[in-house]
Amino acid sequence: MEKYLIAPIKEIITKFPEVGRILEEYNIGCVPCTLGSCLLKDIVAIHNIPLEQELNLMYRLEKTIYPDRVVKKSVFKKAAKKTNAKEINYSPPIKRLVDEHILIKKWIELIPVIIENINNESGDSRQLILDGLDFIRFYADKFHHAKEEDILFEYTDKNSDIIKTILQDHESARSHVRATSEALKRGNRNLIAEHLNAYKELLKEHIKKEDEILYPWIDRDLSTTQVGELFAKFNEAEVKIDKETIEKCKSFIKELKQRIENLKIKKEEVK
Ligand SMILES: [Fe+2]
Ligand SMILES: [Fe+2]
Repeated sequence: MEKYLIAPIKEIITKFPEVGRILEEYNIGCVPCTLGSCLLKDIVAIHNIPLEQELNLMYRLEKTIYPDRVVKKSVFKKAAKKTNAKEINYSPPIKRLVDEHILIKKWIELIPVIIENINNESGDSRQLILDGLDFIRFYADKFHHAKEEDILFEYTDKNSDIIKTILQDHESARSHVRATSEALKRGNRNLIAEHLNAYKELLKEHIKKEDEILYPWIDRDLSTTQVGELFAKFNEAEVKIDKETIEKCKSFIKELKQRIENLKIKKEEVK
């Protein structure tokens, strides 16, 4: 089993697809991961699942990889601590990033209905998408992703696979924004929908990965001094950010549902 513990997960899943399915049962979503170069042993460590579940997971993986082998199930002796992934205790600076995700999630949740109501002939529809792209560029990227990339990740091993995956997600998100903007200029409805949708899917998974895996993993290794330092660095970075634009981003999300409703009404009137 040792040789698989130090093998990239994509290789293992390709050889034993059942491994991917078992990992998903433990909320370890390696199957849709874009890189797949994390080692099995690191994946188990990063997810920090309760020990009883970890022993059970390892037993099932070994049985899947070596069906003919007699695998001894390790006995869990201590009482399992009840953990709930939704009740993660983040340090104050990391909690701030989790809270910023809430605003970003409100935007991505509405992307499907925005796509439904894209109308190349309507200036309002076009403006809504332009404002959405500005929201991503400023709030999700300049304000949020920059804090992750320039500050938070300095506290991690930037060569680790999980950070590489996260950085690749950020790049892919940026390329979908550029492609949506290009498609909007050309008035290509299908391409606008395709890239907005791809952005939504990517960010949904990305935020889940950060909230449930990356941030708890980073938090576990931060000393009290580092938590304070991080908090101060986030404050410093935010002072330099244009407050007015941040407020504009918050208003954009607040008014988004109403603007979509107005688009729907106009669409009905045209019919
Ligand atoms: Fe991120
Ligand atoms: Fe994030």
